[in-house]
Amino acid sequence: MLIAPFWAEYPSDDMNILPNPYKTEKLSGSFSIAENSKIFCDSAFLTQAERLADLVYESCGKFLQFTDVIEEAQIIFANSDKTDPEGYILMISQGVVTVNASTVEGCFYAVETLRQVFNLDTKQEEITCANCYIEDKPRFYHRGLMVDICRHFYGVDTLKQIVELMSQVKLNKLHLHLTDDQGFRVQIDKYPLLTEIGSVRQGSEVVKDGKRYVDDEPHGGFLTKNDIAELVSYAAERNIEIIPEVDLPGHFVAALAAYPEYSCTHQVSEVRKSWGISKDILCAGNDESYEFVKNILDEIAEMFPSEYIHLGGDEVPKDRWCNCKLCRERMAELKLNSYDELQAHMVEVFRKHLEAKGKKVICWNDGVKQATDLDIVSQVWTPFKRKKAIKQTKRGRKVILSPCFRLYFDYPYALTPLRKTLKFNPYRGVAKHARKNVLGVEGTLWTEYVSCPDRLFFQLLPRLDALSEVAWGSRKKGFFKRVTRRLELYDKLGLTYNKRLRKPVGRATTVRKFFRRDSDVEFSKNKQYEN
Ligand code: ACM
Ligand code: ZN
Repeated sequence: MLIAPFWAEYPSDDMNILPNPYKTEKLSGSFSIAENSKIFCDSAFLTQAERLADLVYESCGKFLQFTDVIEEAQIIFANSDKTDPEGYILMISQGVVTVNASTVEGCFYAVETLRQVFNLDTKQEEITCANCYIEDKPRFYHRGLMVDICRHFYGVDTLKQIVELMSQVKLNKLHLHLTDDQGFRVQIDKYPLLTEIGSVRQGSEVVKDGKRYVDDEPHGGFLTKNDIAELVSYAAERNIEIIPEVDLPGHFVAALAAYPEYSCTHQVSEVRKSWGISKDILCAGNDESYEFVKNILDEIAEMFPSEYIHLGGDEVPKDRWCNCKLCRERMAELKLNSYDELQAHMVEVFRKHLEAKGKKVICWNDGVKQATDLDIVSQVWTPFKRKKAIKQTKRGRKVILSPCFRLYFDYPYALTPLRKTLKFNPYRGVAKHARKNVLGVEGTLWTEYVSCPDRLFFQLLPRLDALSEVAWGSRKKGFFKRVTRRLELYDKLGLTYNKRLRKPVGRATTVRKFFRRDSDVEFSKNKQYEN
């Protein structure tokens, strides 16, 4: 059933919703929620209808009643087969709000839109809005954010805050970078040393007073299985899937510090304290290294119900493989011509292992070699290999786009201002017939320089809102006006955000300092500025 729209005489686009819906029309007249307003709800959408009722109560103290008689209702949640799987149609007219959706996800997003239309994050005496017709659906299937909890650890509470903010702007994938040289951050029962040893480093690279050095402050933390279960379920309630990343064969020092027998040299002695790229990587010639990873992946697959598991694959120096007898023997045995082919072989072993468990694999594009199975999704981040990576969409390779100069949120705003994120065109260079292979976009937050939640939210907000405009919507006009309500919410929640929306301060100086690994200047100046 689709409840038909009642068309307006004076259509207007200005609905102040973020991300901008696919289609909006303002209608004449307005709607108010009254003390005795009633909800009629298709049983599939009960949780979402209750969520709206709770939000209304929080905002104005009015209880919405539920009714079984549709004619009595002022708010109707209807099940319709006419909407996109994650989309909805919302009609506010003639004293009735009608939500049409075909899935719980679509209904969830309709409630998020109503939250904005009714201004429900603000205390109000009266809840009123202009009549309108909104037809909405996402531009991309994958609307993601990656958070690195290895360089600096962030636990369940901060991750839940991020999930909640993501869901409010219709993002749907949280990619957790769980393992790296500087920390192994997830409990694996079969290998307790991964967290006993691998989750703690004895110092970190810092910059203070213009000097860069490694301090001697231990830094540690990891997510237990209970933490993950709690986070996965909290996220699922908000239509967000958590995608775990186990980065290999490079960026694997923390695991190898715990179990050095799986490296080529057997001599990895500590969790890495400085940033950058380590030459110590997983041995590709030792059968036991493969078993080690397969056992880790078994537990990861059990913890995370996601469609995809990310296997990293970025920034892999092959020096150790070149000097390792077992790796060279494996090359010869498999008749491989290059170490890149050896990396492709290794990933293929794990892809097949995960496929048997119903999981698909994502890798960073520099880990996706010519020989890499076409079923592996490439997450494209490198500026120089972008063209080559994008070309693979013509062969059927699916991609997720995370270009570093547009969507790396650890970069200073001076280098990546909001307008640069907003201007990102995911289809640039993609052949028309291959557009279907662009699964979507993902912002990333690496945390080498992000050592506290305040800094994390400063880097992220309001970039998350700009990301949602690119990922969900295709109409980005008016972003700087529409983002105002988000900033008011961040103020209310006490979250730090970047206040220089249009003009980042001291561009040249900040960028120069950032490339010298002193990126605090922008954050510390932020508090002085008003919009
Ligand atoms: C990456 O930025 N190394 C994926
Ligand atoms: Zn080796």
